Amino acid sequence: MRNINPTTTTAWKKLDVHFKEMKNVQLKDLFNDEGRAVDFSIHWEDFLVDYSKNLITKDTRALLIDLAEEAGLKSAMKSYFGGDKINATEGRSVMHTALRDEGDTAFAKEEVDSVKKLIEDFTQKIISGRHKGVTGKAITDVVNIGIGGSDLGPQMVVEALKFYKNHLNVHFISNVDGDHVMETLKKLNPETTLFVIVSKTFTTQETLTNAQTVRKWFVEQLGENGVSSHFVAVSTNLEAIADFGIDHNNVFPMWDWVGGRFSLWSSVGLSIALAIGYKNFESLLHGAYKMDRHFRDTPFDQNIPVLTALLSVWYNNFYKCETEAIIPYTQYLHRLPAYLQQAIMESNGKSVDRNGKKITYETGNIIWGEPGTNSQHAFFQLIHQGSKLIPADFIGFKKSLYGNKNHHDKLMANFFAQTEALMNGKTLEQVELELSTKEMSRNQIEQLKPFKVFSGNKPTTSFLIEKLTPESLGALIAMYEHKIFVQGVIWNIYSYDQWGVELGKQLATKILNNIDSIDESVHDLSTISLVNSYKKS
Ligand code: F6P
Repeated sequence: MRNINPTTTTAWKKLDVHFKEMKNVQLKDLFNDEGRAVDFSIHWEDFLVDYSKNLITKDTRALLIDLAEEAGLKSAMKSYFGGDKINATEGRSVMHTALRDEGDTAFAKEEVDSVKKLIEDFTQKIISGRHKGVTGKAITDVVNIGIGGSDLGPQMVVEALKFYKNHLNVHFISNVDGDHVMETLKKLNPETTLFVIVSKTFTTQETLTNAQTVRKWFVEQLGENGVSSHFVAVSTNLEAIADFGIDHNNVFPMWDWVGGRFSLWSSVGLSIALAIGYKNFESLLHGAYKMDRHFRDTPFDQNIPVLTALLSVWYNNFYKCETEAIIPYTQYLHRLPAYLQQAIMESNGKSVDRNGKKITYETGNIIWGEPGTNSQHAFFQLIHQGSKLIPADFIGFKKSLYGNKNHHDKLMANFFAQTEALMNGKTLEQVELELSTKEMSRNQIEQLKPFKVFSGNKPTTSFLIEKLTPESLGALIAMYEHKIFVQGVIWNIYSYDQWGVELGKQLATKILNNIDSIDESVHDLSTISLVNSYKKS
């Protein structure tokens, strides 16, 4: 990987100059060019990506692509797909793409295929009811116990693909919040429940605590003998799994070259395969594989992950936008923003470059969002009329899954209307004209009109996809994964480690070990007071 401060590139300097011209440009004026919607759209498979409602011109696009070239994106992509140890601070390759690679010479093909076979056989046994619990009953409920990447990906996909699910009910326990654990368990019959403990490291406090609690609850009712037919584990740490008391036949391996937040394609996705069946799980992988190929083989000016990443850099580093919103127009994707928060923010929330030097430019953006239309009645006010510029991804589908056209037309009309409103806004003159048709005095109109103005000029990118299927979802997720990679290359950071999560974990252990008699010599006064107050309760 090249090691270049992006701000020193020729393209960046040109972008700086170009930005001065662009910052007063009105997005709606750019549509005086009648070819714009076509020129700034990509049709790929069943995706239409319309990025014409962004604050860019053809010059901006060309300069951003120059930036990608100068940052060495092409050779970085070779390293990424070629299995180089691009996660340098952990000395690891980043090969989640190998998990869905259908090529004959794919990285670790034999190992990947053998684990897939394990997943396929196991899911078929559970779904068909051939696998019996300790009292001879078939499994009806599955509980995924994991956190971070061992929870967010599987949970997001299981929710997203609910339409395709079978009779199994899948539950998720992630937080080390005992109340949440008990709320989940109280609905379950241990005789018909399968517990999937998912932890890449098998050292995560939350997951191990939750797994122990659940195991105890189970053993108290059905005895130790039942553990082997009701508990399975997914991890790279086979020793720790054995120590936990899980039968080695019930272990689904994964590898250190798969990052936790990119692991839903591996055996971490076991609960997905259980929920929707192995064939659908394969379609999810297939969709991601198609996006991998698109990303690897398409020129940058037609490349969805490259262009979306460059847009993000443009807003982040030139317009100084701090956040990006993700607005799916389907309730099925209600966990997508949460999933992307980890994927994007754990990856690119870095402020030291690949030389180990403090960075002087902005890196990872803040990701947030909720489905439309709910979000329109919550935070859209701020996007429309607030003082911040918030680029947003709108994700919608041409067809609904149950085919209710009345609802779907309304849903999608809102999608289209919002992107239009965000771009065009409403001028003072338009407001005045509108108010003049109402029964209002001149005075009332004068007083009210400034509050009803929308400045517009708010950028959005529209992803209009044929239908929410395992395959299209796989492609969508992979698109964001590659977008993360491209941004990391440009910002010259290591996207695949997460040292920033360690300090809090260390301190939590320290506090927990002394929670009954906090060591006042090592903590600050606020923390001491909080812990002491907690102890009194
Ligand atoms: O704390 C962050 C993290 O390490 C994530 O990167 C990871 O997805 C999560 O914890 C869970 O880790 P594990 O799968 O090892 O339990």
